[in-house]
Amino acid sequence: MKSYMLLPAAVLLLSACNLTPTAQVTAPATVPATPAATPATTLTSTPETMDAFERNTRLSRGVNLGNALEAPNEGDWGVTLQESDFQLIKDAGFTAVRIPVRWSAHAAETAPYTIDPAFFTRVDWVIEQALSRGLAAVVNVHHYEEFFQAPEQHTARFIALWQQIASHYKDYPDDLFFEPMNEPHDISASTWNDTLATTISAIRATNPRRYLIVGPVDWNSHRRLNDLQLPADDHNLIVTFHYYLPFEFTHQGAEWASGSEKWLGTTWEGTSSQRDNLDFDLDVAARWGQDNHRPIFLGEFGAYSKADMTSRARWTAYVARQAEARGMSWAYWEFRSGFGVYDGQSQRWNEQLLKALVPSHAAPTTTPQP
Ligand code: BGC
Repeated sequence: MKSYMLLPAAVLLLSACNLTPTAQVTAPATVPATPAATPATTLTSTPETMDAFERNTRLSRGVNLGNALEAPNEGDWGVTLQESDFQLIKDAGFTAVRIPVRWSAHAAETAPYTIDPAFFTRVDWVIEQALSRGLAAVVNVHHYEEFFQAPEQHTARFIALWQQIASHYKDYPDDLFFEPMNEPHDISASTWNDTLATTISAIRATNPRRYLIVGPVDWNSHRRLNDLQLPADDHNLIVTFHYYLPFEFTHQGAEWASGSEKWLGTTWEGTSSQRDNLDFDLDVAARWGQDNHRPIFLGEFGAYSKADMTSRARWTAYVARQAEARGMSWAYWEFRSGFGVYDGQSQRWNEQLLKALVPSHAAPTTTPQP
C-alpha cells in the first residue's frame, strides 16, 4: 500500500477537466480502434532535434515496472522484479520499460549522499535485463517526497544522486534514458526550472549526449508545459507528460486518492464528448511539442483495477492510439500491480488491456518458466 496521498493531483487534474470544451454527448457502443480523424497536431522534428525524435521511437510502446523499485524497499508493494517479466514484456510486443526508482531511500542522508552499492547492483540488473532483450529503459527518480516538502534542504542531495547515477551509467548505450524527476509537484515552476537546469548540467558533465526525459510541474500535467523551461541548446531532450483524465474514472476506488470510493462505478463509454475532451488534452501537449520542436513521451497513463475492464480497455486503447497518431511514444502505468496489464496472481496477461495497448499482439497467455 502506498503511503502517500494523491489528493492534490486529483484536485488539479479535476480542475483541468473544466478547461476542456464541452461537446454534444452521443453514445457509440464502441470506440474505433484507429482514430477516426487526423489529429489537429502531429509532431515533426527540426534538423537539430532529429536525433531526439529518432530516439523517441525506441520508446514507442512501453510499460512501467511500477510498484517495484519505487516502493520503500522492493517487494514492499508486492512486486519483486524477475527475469521472466522482461521476456514476457518483450514477447508481448512492447519496445521499452520505464523503471521508477526510489533512490532517495537508498542513499546516505549526509554529504556526499552515497548511494548504497548493493542497490546500484540491483538497478544494474534490472536495466541489463531490459537492454539485453532489446527493450529500451528509462530510469527515473521516483517518490523523492522529502524534496517536495523542503526543496531548498534537499536540492544538494538530489543533484548528488544524479551525479552518482549519471557517472555510474555513463558508458551504457543510448537505449538507456534518464528521467530526472517523476511528477514534480507542490513546488513552483521556477523552483523546478532552476533545479532541472542544475540537474541537466550535472548529468551533462559525464553524459554529454544521453537522452533525458523532462516534464513540467503539477504531476507532469500537460496544462503546465508552457511553464517548463529547457536549455535551448540541448537537443537531446524528450518532453514527458502523464495522463489520468477523467480522474474519477481512472482513480475510482484508489486507496491513495482520498474520496475516490465515491467514484466507483464510473464508466468510460467513449462518447463523442469524452473523446473530444481527451483529444483536446492530447492536442495541448502535441501543439506544445510542435511549437517548441521537442518530441513527446506520454510516460504514464492507466486506469485502476476497480474500474470495469471494458471501460479500462476502451480508454486505454483510445489514449494509446491518439498518442500514437500525434507522433508520441508512451508507457502504460503499469505492468503487474493495481493497474496491471499483466496479472501476477494468475500469471496471465489481462488480454483486453494488452490488446488495447499492442493490438497486433499474439503472445502466449502463461508465464514461461524462468
Ligand atoms: C505514481 C504511482 C501511482 C500512479 C497512479 C504515478 O505517478 O507514481 O505511484 O500509482 O501515478 O496514481
